[in-house]
This record gives sequence, structure tokens and C-alpha cells, in this order.
Amino acid sequence: MILVTGGAGYIGSHFIRTYLSRTPGSALVVVDNLELGHKEALPDSAAVYFLHQNTGDIGVLKSVFERFPIRAVVHFAASCYVGESEQNPLKYFQNNVVQSLNLFQAMEETQVRKIVFSSSCATYGNPRYSPIDEEHPQEPVNVYGRTKLIVEQALQALASRLGWSCVMLRYFNAAGADDSGLIGESHDPETHLIPLALQTALGKRECLEVYGNDYDTTDGTCVRDYIHVSDLAQAHCEALNLLEAGAGTQAINLGTTSGASVLEIIEMCRQVTGKDIPYRLMPRRAGDPPALVAQAGKAGRVLNWKPGYDLRRIIETAWSWEKNRRF
Ligand SMILES: NC(=O)c1ccc[n+]([C@@H]2O[C@H](COP(=O)([O-])OP(=O)(O)OC[C@H]3O[C@@H](n4cnc5c(N)ncnc54)[C@H](O)[C@@H]3O)[C@@H](O)[C@H]2O)c1
Repeated sequence: MILVTGGAGYIGSHFIRTYLSRTPGSALVVVDNLELGHKEALPDSAAVYFLHQNTGDIGVLKSVFERFPIRAVVHFAASCYVGESEQNPLKYFQNNVVQSLNLFQAMEETQVRKIVFSSSCATYGNPRYSPIDEEHPQEPVNVYGRTKLIVEQALQALASRLGWSCVMLRYFNAAGADDSGLIGESHDPETHLIPLALQTALGKRECLEVYGNDYDTTDGTCVRDYIHVSDLAQAHCEALNLLEAGAGTQAINLGTTSGASVLEIIEMCRQVTGKDIPYRLMPRRAGDPPALVAQAGKAGRVLNWKPGYDLRRIIETAWSWEKNRRF
């Protein structure tokens, strides 16, 4: 059995469906405070035991680890808005760092020492070279990225001093939706480009804002590496297998090794939806690196994983969800 924090969120809920379909007969405990997640995103199944809780409540978490035969934790729960992290750093240190440390305390006290952690390409900061491999210096340029790096460092210490096994997955830009159309991205406020572009296509937003067109990229707009959320989910299943196989502690990028600019995304959204997507050019946003693209070779070697969805399919699944959102 595993424990999943933040399982009612975007990536966590996709992981849960993938995990349950890949490991029939398995069960899991979900801990989510529903601050940003959606209970409807969880499958209605006896295999899912849901706890409406903070991950940082040591007493509750300890009792969960004592009550259920949990072998490993998949830790998604966090606050994830870069802009908000700059305005309210204490919230981010509290929710992403303190709550994580409390979770680790409960794990250590009950001898659950295996974890898959949702880290981020934001830990790298401004790229010194591209694509970015796992050896790239970690110099976050925003508070959000810093909190993710601190948790990585805590896990490295737990691994080297207390024998924990940790897989730290550094995602690039998660996107797309489950093929079933039953779950997808639903953030409030939404800050991610693809849902914003698709909502503009649907007429729910008047105009998309594009921040900066004078970067040193092919068309001047920022380039990002978009990875389908179900590909991320599969990688987490492989990471759990790696932990079971006793492969020790690893940091692994999850991306596609290919970037798309903001204008390329808008054009692909236009092609997939068949609708016009008006956009307005805005000044650059502080702290946006020109390009963030993963060198994802290690994930192939260590996890035996490779992404299955290309950009068109990512946007097609996001579009199916966006047109018929359940939450
Ligand atoms: N979405 C991306 O592109 C991306 C990229 C890199 C890393 N990540 C990381 O992946 C993880 C999941 O991201 P997401 O996009 O699914 O975010 P999300 O906001 O959709 O999901 C996070 C979930 O965690 C829950 N949560 C937050 N703090 C909690 C706490 N203290 N206790 C219990 N539950 C709590 C929220 O209610 C929500 O359901 C995060 O750790 C994020 O930093 C995401």
C-alpha cells in the first residue's frame, strides 16, 4: 500500500488512476486538504481511502502509518504558484517546507523510508545551458523553486544519514488530461498556458496575454518543455518500482527534451480547436527564463520510461477536458 499526498490535485489524481490500473488489487491512502484539489478528481473506489488533512499534521500522519501497511509515500502536496510565492514567501516555506518536514518526521518515526517527491525544473533557475540535465547547478530564482530545493536537500540528508530511499522527480511543464476525459487540469486561478489558451478558444477569456517577444528564442517568446500528465503518472509508477528494487536515491528530470514557444503553443491550440485565439503582447515577466527544456535521458535509462504523448496529443486531451469539464 502507498500513501499519496496532494492526490486530489492535477498531477496526483492522474497518478492515482494510472497506479490503480497498473497494479490491480492495490490500495492507497490519499491525504489532501482540498485547498486546491478536487474530491471529484478521485476515483470512486474502495481502493482509495481519502483523508481530508494537512500533510504536516504529524500525529494524524503517524496514526495513518501505524494503521495501514504503507511501504512508500508519493508526495505531491504543495503550493505551486511562482508569483504568489514571491508575494507570500512565508506561506510557501510553511506549506512546502515545514509541512514536508513534518511528514518526513511522521515517516521516520514509523519507519516508512521510501518516497517519491514532486520536485521541479524551477530548482535550476536560469539555465546556463540547454537542454538541462540533472547535473545542472540548482540556483532557483524564485521562492517556489527554493522551497522545492530545500526539500530535495532534506531528502538527500535523510538518504545519506538515515538510509532513506528517495526519487526526486523534477518535472518540467505538466500539461494535458487523462484520455478518459474524466479528469484534467482545474486550477483557480489558472496560470498555465495551455488551459488559458483553450479557455480563450472557448470564449471564456477575451484574450491571452503573452509575456515578452524579445527573448533569444526562435520567435522571441519563451520556450518550455510540455510533458503529458499521464506520462508523468507512468514515471511515478516506475519510480515506485525503482524504490522497491532498492535503487537508492536519485534526482531525475521528467520532460520530453523538446521545447515549444508560446506562439507555437497558441498555433497548435488553434489547429486542434479550429478556433481563433486572440492574444496580446505584454512586457516580459520578472524571473521568466527564456527557455527551459529537459535533458530527459536519465529517466529513460534509470526508470525505463519515455514520454508517449506529443504536443498535438497533449493539446487534444486538454481540449477534450476543457470542453466538458466536470470540476
Ligand atoms: N503542474 C506542473 O507543471 C508542475 C511542475 C513542476 C512541479 N510540480 C509539482 O507537482 C506537484 C503537484 O502539482 P499540481 O499541478 O498537481 O498541483 P495542484 O495544486 O493541482 O495539486 C496540489 C494538491 O496538494 C494539495 N495540498 C497542498 N498543500 C497541502 C497540504 N499542506 N496538505 C494536504 N494537501 C495539500 C492541494 O489541495 C492540491 O490538491 C506539486 O508539488 C508541484 O509543485 C508541478
